[in-house]
Amino acid sequence: MNTTEPTCLTPTPDGIAQAADLLRTGALVAFPTETVYGLGADARNGRAVAAIFEAKGRPSFNPLIVHVLDATHARRFCHWSDTAEKLASAFWPGPLSLVLPLTEGHGLSSLVSAGLSTVALRVPAHPTARALLRAFDGPVAAPSANPSGKISPTTAQHVSDGLGMRVGAILDDGPCRVGLESTIVGLDGPASLLRPGGLPAEEIERVLGQKLSRETEGKISAPGQLMSHYAPNGRVRLNAQRAHDGEVFLGFGEMTCDLNLSPSGDLTEAASVLFDCLHQLDATGSAIAVAPIPRQGLGAAINDRLQRAAAPRP
Ligand code: TXA
Ligand code: MG
Repeated sequence: MNTTEPTCLTPTPDGIAQAADLLRTGALVAFPTETVYGLGADARNGRAVAAIFEAKGRPSFNPLIVHVLDATHARRFCHWSDTAEKLASAFWPGPLSLVLPLTEGHGLSSLVSAGLSTVALRVPAHPTARALLRAFDGPVAAPSANPSGKISPTTAQHVSDGLGMRVGAILDDGPCRVGLESTIVGLDGPASLLRPGGLPAEEIERVLGQKLSRETEGKISAPGQLMSHYAPNGRVRLNAQRAHDGEVFLGFGEMTCDLNLSPSGDLTEAASVLFDCLHQLDATGSAIAVAPIPRQGLGAAINDRLQRAAAPRP
């Protein structure tokens, strides 16, 4: 038996039941969502949540997203509002996380919100994530299942390569459809975009009938959102027209390159393969040059992730 790889569970009723049992014992279980693979733990269990930070090597001041089955479950932990209701009805389940004020007696580990008075809640759409939440019957704290600062995982193999035996088990259900983390909207004041992600901000603004405030974008209310993130080992150069010596070239649209995010110039396709392309190019050991990506729609989140991948390392 290979003891360097974590237990792999299949998304069958039996595999899901085993994963839920593991969560109950306080173990970490990686599971697929439509955005990226999450590293899940019982959000009420302080030791289990602490183990997430330890496994990722994550600065503990960076709060986690709590995954629940639906808005009814979400409301148990936060002060709900009309805006929350509007966004939840339009976009849950889906790639949107809402940051709302915590209620008294919410029962979540204080590590989840890193001591803030708010909590980020998300209702994932992935059938396996939903089956796990149903079987576990409780809130699951889950950041992306990668070492802190590194490229996010969109396959079970990425999780296993990055975290190895630091996860108890991985529920493997193939590649993630969206490929970018959820969009995070802060609702503890005027609705604000805290992180662009798998749901384009324009769609949220259409439903709200107003612009999202962008003042706090990237400067998450906790001193968390690190500028260098999603970082491959090699240097990353953006808005490149071609590769320089020693670089591999990640293209977009019709062009000659080593890997192409979307030969047809489709941003949804580009989002879904972005992290996998970065994982693949990173494995070559070369520096990475990336073609310009349009900024509208999902392009905002793609550019956000690329800028962090290219940012100076701490
Ligand atoms: O798509 C996703 O959101 C994935 C999957 C697994 O669901 N999860 C994810 O989690 O991306 P993570 O931990 O990598 O990102 C969580 C981010 C934190 O870095 C922080 O910026 C923000 O969410 N966050 C969490 N709680 C917050 C709070 N109370 N206030 C402000 N920002 C918060
Ligand atoms: Mg992450």
